[in-house]
Amino acid sequence: MRAARASLCLHVLLIVASVVGAFDPITTTVMVGIGAALTRGIYNYLHESCDSRWIAFNSTGLEEDLRTQLFGQHLASHIIGKAVKGFMNTTNPKKPLVLSLHGWTGTGKNFASALIAQNIYKEGMQSQFVHVFTSELHFPHAVQMDTYKTQLQQWIKGNVSNCPQSMFIFDEMDKMHPGLIDSIKPYLDHYEKLDGVSYRKAIFIFLSNAGGEIIVETALDFWKAGRSREEIQLKDVEEALTLSVFNNKRSGLWRTSLIDKNLVDFFVPFLPLEYKHVFQCAMATMRAQDMDLVQATTIADLVAHDLPYFPKGERVFSVKGCKTIESKWEYYT
Ligand SMILES: *[C@@H]1O[C@H](CO)[C@@H](O)[C@H](O)[C@H]1NC(C)=O
Ligand SMILES: *[C@@H]1O[C@H](CO)[C@@H](O)[C@H](O)[C@H]1NC(C)=O
Ligand SMILES: *[C@@H]1O[C@H](CO)[C@@H](O)[C@H](O)[C@H]1NC(C)=O
Repeated sequence: MRAARASLCLHVLLIVASVVGAFDPITTTVMVGIGAALTRGIYNYLHESCDSRWIAFNSTGLEEDLRTQLFGQHLASHIIGKAVKGFMNTTNPKKPLVLSLHGWTGTGKNFASALIAQNIYKEGMQSQFVHVFTSELHFPHAVQMDTYKTQLQQWIKGNVSNCPQSMFIFDEMDKMHPGLIDSIKPYLDHYEKLDGVSYRKAIFIFLSNAGGEIIVETALDFWKAGRSREEIQLKDVEEALTLSVFNNKRSGLWRTSLIDKNLVDFFVPFLPLEYKHVFQCAMATMRAQDMDLVQATTIADLVAHDLPYFPKGERVFSVKGCKTIESKWEYYT
């Protein structure tokens, strides 16, 4: 609606401008007036709105970004690509898309979420239709849980009413109060409408470390057996993953609410990163600084090499993944 209005407005302005242009001489005042109106029109025209000019899924873009920028995560890339593509290609989805991303810190969960956002919203993570919640930032005090619940429900409802294709990212899901998780449960379900609002076109992404140890164990087992990490399949971690989220005391309600009810559509494991992946992350960071290839390679190697790895003797997996690179590389230049 707003877009149609804005473009109509712009159209009228252009006609007015050309008509005025036919008169000679044009006074400065008129020019300035038209300039201001035109600027306003253009602003409206450019302002993000909930329509296909601002929200358009780029399937090849997502595939390419996952393949070339999300390092060392063949499973996550594959699952996310399929899930998002399938969902965005459905005209009338039966429920919102719910992804649960699991893995240790620095393995790319946030980054992968950003890649999804970038290939759906023109403004990417900056889009007004993308909402990020962090339990410790947005819902820090257990005593205020009732307020948080109401607030969160209102936010979700308000935002989805504004734009059905909204995206909600919940960081540190494993630190979320169970009651809060419970309060968002209805929005993830198959309801056609809740209070007149349909949530079926929304996307919910949960990020957590829950199950991270299991994923690491699996990766380590493969490594010890001399098998390549690309051989790891979803079935190798999936059962263990649901079980561990299942058994985690803190996420007990998460289990009963989301997993038992099959509200989560996809569990996405993020594997621990090896030196070569951290090196790739570091290279990408250096190259983004316009560093030449030789210098970038030297520094990326230093940065990646100095990070802690485990198990201690073999140094197979990076303890913090790609996490601290952004803050560390300058030290090496
Ligand atoms: C989709 O992404 C690809 C790869 O990043 C890019 O070349 C292409 O221009 C994008 N298409 C649109 C419509 O933005
Ligand atoms: C989207 O769905 C149509 C059929 O509805 C199918 O032909 C097409 O291949 C699908 N595209 C993707 C990217 O899955
Ligand atoms: C949308 O969500 C944001 C939080 O991300 C909140 O501040 C805002 O009030 C919500 N908008 C509506 C209309 O509820």
